[in-house]
Amino acid sequence: MAKSSSEARSQTAQTTDERSGDPVIDIQDMTKTFDGGEIIACEDINLEIYQEDFVVLLGPSGCGKTTTLRCISGLEIPTEGTILISGVDMTGVKPKNRNLAFVFQSVALFPHMNVRRNIRFGLDMTSDLTKDEKNERVEEVAKILGIEGMLDRDTSELSGGQQQRVSLGRAMVMEPEAFLLDEPFSALDANLRKTMQTEVKELQRRLETPMVFVTHDQEEAMSIGDKIVVMNEGHIQQVGSPYQIFNEPLTRFVARFIGSPTVNMFDGVVTNSSGETQFECDRFTVPVDGEGSAELAADQDVTLGVRPQYIFQADEGEGVMTGEVALVEPQDDRDTVVVDVDGTNVRTVVPQGTMSAGERVELDFGRNEFWLFDRDGDRIY
Ligand SMILES: Nc1ncnc2c1ncn2[C@@H]1O[C@H](COP(=O)(O)OP(=O)(O)OP(=O)(O)O)[C@@H](O)[C@H]1O
Ligand SMILES: [Mg+2]
Repeated sequence: MAKSSSEARSQTAQTTDERSGDPVIDIQDMTKTFDGGEIIACEDINLEIYQEDFVVLLGPSGCGKTTTLRCISGLEIPTEGTILISGVDMTGVKPKNRNLAFVFQSVALFPHMNVRRNIRFGLDMTSDLTKDEKNERVEEVAKILGIEGMLDRDTSELSGGQQQRVSLGRAMVMEPEAFLLDEPFSALDANLRKTMQTEVKELQRRLETPMVFVTHDQEEAMSIGDKIVVMNEGHIQQVGSPYQIFNEPLTRFVARFIGSPTVNMFDGVVTNSSGETQFECDRFTVPVDGEGSAELAADQDVTLGVRPQYIFQADEGEGVMTGEVALVEPQDDRDTVVVDVDGTNVRTVVPQGTMSAGERVELDFGRNEFWLFDRDGDRIY
C-alpha cells in the first residue's frame, strides 16, 4: 500500500495523540506562492506544534523552510490556509503582536551597544516593565546563557558563539509563546556549533517553550530535534522522531536525505513465483517475506533501499554481493567503506580496521532491514 502525504500527516497525528493540551502553533492547509502563483514556496502545509516540542524543519535549499517560518512569524502572509497561535487565528495579526521570537542566521546585533542594551532591545520597544524589572530579566537570561560577565561589553568584542547567545537572549527576555530559529548556527565553526546545539536543546527543556528550528543539515536536525519535519519542493514529506525518519522513511526522498553515509539504492523488480515473493536486480535476488510482502504486486519496478549500517561482511560463499574495497574512511571507532560491486558503489559501515582497500569482500544485509519504494518514490514495503 502506497504511503501518501495524507499518511505522513496521520503519522503526525499519532505522535501528537499522546500529548496533552492544544497546539501552541497550528498550521492548517497553508500554501505560499510568489510572483502571482508562479513560484510555489510551500504547499498544503499541515503541522501542529505543542508546548513541549522541539521541531526541526529540515530539507534542501529552496524547499520552503524559511518561507514556512516567516509565515508563522507574520513576516509573510500565506496565500491560502490558516495559522492559529494558542487557538487564535493569526490572519491579519501583525508580527509584533504574535508574541513569537525570531532568531536569524546572521546575527543582527547593534555593534556599538553593550550586551545589556542589545538583550534589552525588544523589551525597550514594546513592554511596560520598569527599568529595574527589565534589567532583572536581562540578568536572569544572561545567567542562563552564561554571558552574565559580559553585560557591559560591546557586542563587537564578542566571539561568534557569544554573539549568537546574545541574539538568543534578546529573544528569551521577551518570554514568547514560541521561538522561531532560522539556521542560527550555520556561521559557527563545527565545535562551537555542537556546543550551541546542546545548549539550545537544554534551553528549550528548561523554558518549556516550543522551538521551531530550521536547518538543511540532517545531522544537526537529528541531534537536536524531537520532531523532524522533512520538506522537499515545498511539501512536507514526513513528520516523525529522529528514529522514525531514520528507520521508517515514508518516501525514497526521506531515505536518501537522512542518514550518513547515504542509503544504498538498487533498482529492480518484484517477482512472485509459487507464492514466494522476491526482489530481483542485476546484482542479487533476495526473498521478501516480512509483513506486507503478500500484498506486493508482482512484476512492478521498485527500488530497494538499505542503510550502510545494515550491510555487513558475509562469510565466503554466503553473501549476496561480491566486490572490491575501493575506499575506507575512518569515522570514530567505525569505518565507512565503499565497495565496488561490478561498477556499483555499495556503502557499508564496519568496525575499525575490518576492511582494507583492494580486498575482495562478500556483502550481505538483514532480511528485515531493507525497504522497497515504488516508481513514485513512495514506500510500499
Ligand atoms: N520573496 C520571494 N519572492 C520570490 N520567491 C521567493 C521569495 N522567497 C522565497 N522564494 C522562493 O521560494 C522557494 C522557497 O524558499 P525558502 O527561502 O523558503 O527556502 P529554504 O528552504 O529556506 O532554502 P535555504 O535552505 O536555501 O534557506 C525558493 O524557490 C525561493 O526562491
Ligand atoms: Mg532558508
